Amino acid sequence: MNNANHLLLLLILFVLTLISQGHAQHHWGKEKVTNLHFYYQEKLTGDNATIVLSGRPNDNASANFLTFGAVSVIDAHLTEGEDPNSPLIGHAQGLSVSAGQEQLMLVFVADFGFTAGEFNGSSISILSRNPLLETDRELAVVGGRGMFRMARGFAFLHAVNVTADITKIEYNVTVFHYE
Ligand SMILES: *[C@@H]1O[C@H](CO)[C@@H](O)[C@H](O)[C@H]1NC(C)=O
Ligand SMILES: *[C@@H]1O[C@H](CO)[C@@H](O)[C@H](O)[C@H]1NC(C)=O
Ligand SMILES: *[C@@H]1O[C@H](CO)[C@@H](O)[C@H](O)[C@H]1NC(C)=O
Ligand SMILES: *[C@@H]1O[C@H](CO)[C@@H](O)[C@H](O)[C@H]1NC(C)=O
Ligand SMILES: *[C@@H]1O[C@H](CO)[C@@H](O)[C@H](O)[C@H]1NC(C)=O
Repeated sequence: MNNANHLLLLLILFVLTLISQGHAQHHWGKEKVTNLHFYYQEKLTGDNATIVLSGRPNDNASANFLTFGAVSVIDAHLTEGEDPNSPLIGHAQGLSVSAGQEQLMLVFVADFGFTAGEFNGSSISILSRNPLLETDRELAVVGGRGMFRMARGFAFLHAVNVTADITKIEYNVTVFHYE
């Protein structure tokens, strides 16, 4: 073997050692399932609206957040009960993208961060289509932080009240994560 081959061999061994060390550092506990129940409260208009239209198609000055191509930023409240004034347990922060060319369809990308109770400091990440016109929906949970690190799961949504000014959605989330 010449020197170049020796060097290559050493490099490969070095990388393999790094990879195996990386694996050894993870100690996952047992998988477990957690069910979460809360309400998503959106204020669409007025002071302190929790959703703002941040991008609209260039050729349409009258576009709203449902117009195909519109992008909105969300900071919705998550409450324990149906009443918007019931205890705040977190925020859903992210984007709602109107991505249905043929029929109204929102795609939702949001971090549901909890700020109270058992899961304070943890979050679940949702990335899913969110068919606004359907009363009952299912969204995909694709990850999480803190106690929900490496989470996967799904959320069942029920639209409790949707008006031009507010959106109130009941969430039942089933999360698979590690102890
Ligand atoms: C908007 O938020 C500010 C700061 O939290 C608060 O002082 C004000 O009362 C709120 N306005 C409404 C209409 O809720
Ligand atoms: C602009 O957006 C409005 C509201 O969604 C819609 O009614 C209208 O058809 C759109 N216009 C064009 C040219 O896409
Ligand atoms: C949530 O955690 C933060 C940071 O640890 C802490 O400051 C806050 O008081 C906690 N909130 C509740 C309601 O426990
Ligand atoms: C959430 O679960 C409760 C209790 O099982 C049930 O009454 C409610 O209808 C469910 N809601 C949704 C949106 O799945
Ligand atoms: C929906 O919300 C509006 C505005 O807050 C309220 O006037 C109406 O009574 C609510 N409807 C239901 C079915 O809760």
